[in-house]
Amino acid sequence: MPEINAALLQKIEDTVLSSLPRCADVPALREMMLYSLESGGKRVRPRLCLMFCAAAGGDPANALHFAAAVEYVHTYSLIHDDLPCMDNDDFRRGKPSSHVRFGEANALLAGDALLTHAFYLAAEAAVRGEVRAEDAVRAVSELSDLAGANGMVGGQVIDLAAEGGDVPGDTLFTMDRLKTGALIRCACLLGCIAADAEIEQIDAAETYADNLGVAFQIVDDILDVTADSATLGKPVGSDEKNGKNTYVSLLGLDGAGREAEDYTNKALAALDVFGERAEDLKRFTAALLERKK
Ligand code: IPE
Ligand code: IPE
Ligand code: MG
Ligand code: MG
Ligand code: MG
Repeated sequence: MPEINAALLQKIEDTVLSSLPRCADVPALREMMLYSLESGGKRVRPRLCLMFCAAAGGDPANALHFAAAVEYVHTYSLIHDDLPCMDNDDFRRGKPSSHVRFGEANALLAGDALLTHAFYLAAEAAVRGEVRAEDAVRAVSELSDLAGANGMVGGQVIDLAAEGGDVPGDTLFTMDRLKTGALIRCACLLGCIAADAEIEQIDAAETYADNLGVAFQIVDDILDVTADSATLGKPVGSDEKNGKNTYVSLLGLDGAGREAEDYTNKALAALDVFGERAEDLKRFTAALLERKK
């Protein structure tokens, strides 16, 4: 996925890793947080945050701490998602899951620490002069909303409630728009906020994110059946094991593939308002449909 320049990608890595709290009194907690943060995630949300900042005419360097904040929330969501009481998955990003490595209670707490630190990082963007204080307040407000009951957590509740039963397509859409789309929306919006974007750019980012979020989850569900486990970094078949409702269980692989393509096209169309500055974003969006992990 080369659609963001190597120097910016390195800055994302540096910011994500250097943003860890020192944990002077509890070094073991820092180790647990670092274990999940540095474990080879694709950094899709931070990339989107920086690319939306650039598309809206801003300097992507000003979105770095916003981007890191979203990645911290995302990483916490994966640690909790893998817990035995949720998807019960023992591998993540090519390594034993946090609860396998550190025990269930520590995995829960490492996730809690990552989540809470995300709000510190969003505020830090203003402290460091990347954005104005009022923009950091807006970012914290979006992040709280989209990470929580109206966003990712809400979607995860639908996901668990739907296990083992059959749910209609519109419930699947809502579930994916929330559990996966919400943090993607957050990444895109925070990029726009850092760029002081126009209202129609923000509207377009929201339309983009809702559609890309659903497409991204459908591809995740397809890969859970078709991927090479070594490339995916975990065994395939988690969804079937858990009786999950997905676009694949509803429509089959081909039908799910067509839906992923449709939603990706809707996301791409929403980028038109950004003109030429969204060319990188368009290439990245198309590449996400073809990803192998
Ligand atoms: C996995 O997200 C979970 C979903 C929300 C679909 P990613 O595919 O972005 O995971 P990493 O960060 O690259 O590991
Ligand atoms: C998305 O769904 C999970 C989150 C919102 C954290 P999945 O449960 O399918 O994600 P993976 O496949 O375990 O990464
Ligand atoms: Mg899950
Ligand atoms: Mg899972
Ligand atoms: Mg999955």
